[in-house]
Amino acid sequence: MKYIYFITLLILASAALGSAQLDGLSSTCQNTLTQFLGDKNINNCFPFSAITPLATTTTIPDQNTLKTAADAICAKPKCSDNLVSTTLNQFKTSCQTDISNNQTLAQLVNVALSLYSPMRDSICYKNSTGGYCFIESEAAAEQILQSAPKGQNPAFTFAGAQKNQVCTPCNKAIFNTFFNYQNVNPSAFSDVQNATGKNINDVKGAIEGKCGQNFIDGKVGDSTEDPQKFQTESANQKSSAASLVANPVNFVVLVGSLLAML
Ligand SMILES: *[C@@H]1O[C@H](CO)[C@@H](O)[C@H](O)[C@H]1NC(C)=O
Ligand SMILES: *[C@@H]1O[C@H](CO)[C@@H](O)[C@H](O)[C@H]1NC(C)=O
Ligand SMILES: *[C@@H]1O[C@H](CO)[C@@H](O)[C@H](O)[C@H]1NC(C)=O
Repeated sequence: MKYIYFITLLILASAALGSAQLDGLSSTCQNTLTQFLGDKNINNCFPFSAITPLATTTTIPDQNTLKTAADAICAKPKCSDNLVSTTLNQFKTSCQTDISNNQTLAQLVNVALSLYSPMRDSICYKNSTGGYCFIESEAAAEQILQSAPKGQNPAFTFAGAQKNQVCTPCNKAIFNTFFNYQNVNPSAFSDVQNATGKNINDVKGAIEGKCGQNFIDGKVGDSTEDPQKFQTESANQKSSAASLVANPVNFVVLVGSLLAML
């Protein structure tokens, strides 16, 4: 089983695209992707040229690489919804065969385009010490997983995790960004393996169980708030870690790093 980090996917997909790992795709799809890479409008808001040399799809990039990529992405204006949906439609038309044949790169780009908006927002949130939220969240998720007994169901691992590792201002910003996006675009996650509407609702319930009802209240909040203070404020919220165990798929969308299996 190979997990890749969901938010990082936007970075990974760009890296793969730019490093011309297009072999194996149909020629129609290859042509369209090559055209995207050279498209002036896309490059105005998405820095392929800065990101592509940084990473490969085979490993999760290290923190410095992620930071450099995030710096480049967040320095540009966000791509307009209109540009993203036009690009996505064009991609789906040209690469339909490749997507249904489970070509990894085609699926990666498909998800990266479908979830561009919340991913881009989430990549750019900063924490109280000026670091990137998603890097903080991924490091915490990794730590939680690594300290677990080998082979333990990840849902149990997270159920037992410290509240202050999961219920952070950064994760609140990231979770609400994704859930708000899903509310407005109910089919946004449909191309993500295992992320069905029911599974996503289970995840929501699980996070609320862990972090209290107000955690997923639709408000992104202030990711730069002091996590200590944030914990104190939310300390008296009802929570029951048990609901985290509801569904192993919780793991797929948990802790902002939102893992996807490819
Ligand atoms: C692609 O993956 C799906 C789900 O894992 C599977 O049902 C389908 O048979 C696969 N298609 C091909 C062409 O391998
Ligand atoms: C903020 O995020 C950075 C990583 O981007 C991390 O190294 C740092 O520890 C985080 N700060 C806090 C207070 O968690
Ligand atoms: C996704 O669902 C399939 C089929 O139900 C399952 O085999 C696979 O382990 C699931 N993946 C994750 C990451 O839970």
